[in-house]
Amino acid sequence: MIIVPGPASKDLGFRIANSMGIEAVPLEFKRFPDGESYFRFTKNLENEDVVIVQTTGPPQDVNFLQLLLLIDAARDLGSKSVTAVVPYVAYGRQARRFLNGEAISSRTVFKLLETVDIDYFITFDYHNPEILNYFKNHVENLTAVPSLAKFMNGYSLKGAFSLAPDDGAIELVKVASNILEGDYGWLKKTRDKVTGEITIKVDNLNVKGKDAVVFDDIISTGSTMTSAVKILKSQGARRVYAACVHPLLIGDAKEKILREGALEIVGTDCVPSPVSVVSVAPVVAEALRRHFSM
Ligand code: R5P
Repeated sequence: MIIVPGPASKDLGFRIANSMGIEAVPLEFKRFPDGESYFRFTKNLENEDVVIVQTTGPPQDVNFLQLLLLIDAARDLGSKSVTAVVPYVAYGRQARRFLNGEAISSRTVFKLLETVDIDYFITFDYHNPEILNYFKNHVENLTAVPSLAKFMNGYSLKGAFSLAPDDGAIELVKVASNILEGDYGWLKKTRDKVTGEITIKVDNLNVKGKDAVVFDDIISTGSTMTSAVKILKSQGARRVYAACVHPLLIGDAKEKILREGALEIVGTDCVPSPVSVVSVAPVVAEALRRHFSM
């Protein structure tokens, strides 16, 4: 097996190779003066199981095109199989037409991925898993939530309350609360389809004097997480932490969340960021070993 870390997931690629005791094969990569990407594989891929690791967080369009270029080239260079490890798949939230005339972008993303012929596709906590059914190849939608919750346990958070900032994250907090051995709950969030502004209906969460962790799949502008932290603090929660799988952290998202009273933001390397302290490499390594019977 050959693990190839793409430019958007260099560290994760090397960590996966390390977890598996395999050497990662670096790419020769440069940008042409006009911005186009140049790639050269530095090892012969013929008859090899090739694993490309490339996330598609910001800049999404560049990272996604690079992913397609890498997969297509790996196939073209005679590999036996091509696996794509794409921990964060861009456009996952635009999975239906919320307003007339909108593009269903996440479906298009998977249509494009189909064209480059992938044998095995690994992602994490995909926002709208139903859309994965359109994808004909072998897809594995893994979860990083147990890794996040185990990490949080290191902060003596046993018995902490796990909060989902909206109903989309309920399944995540069910998993997390099992590990933290505390209660869980969720907020009722609605988002304005035009402005993107969110409104949260506040119920009593029964968190007075308790530690709490908010778990979400994505932190983008931080508005959702900020509101959830604010609600927990206003209801008397003691220590509050923010945890997410995909820390996109656009603009001042991190500062906004911390300003509201979160002690720390903990994310994974599904998207590299200053808060990506939890690695999904062992989970990917285990999936690869299982799939390839290693
Ligand atoms: C949406 O349903 C997602 O699960 C996240 O809650 C959302 O993407 C976070 O976005 P933002 O950080 O901009 O509020």
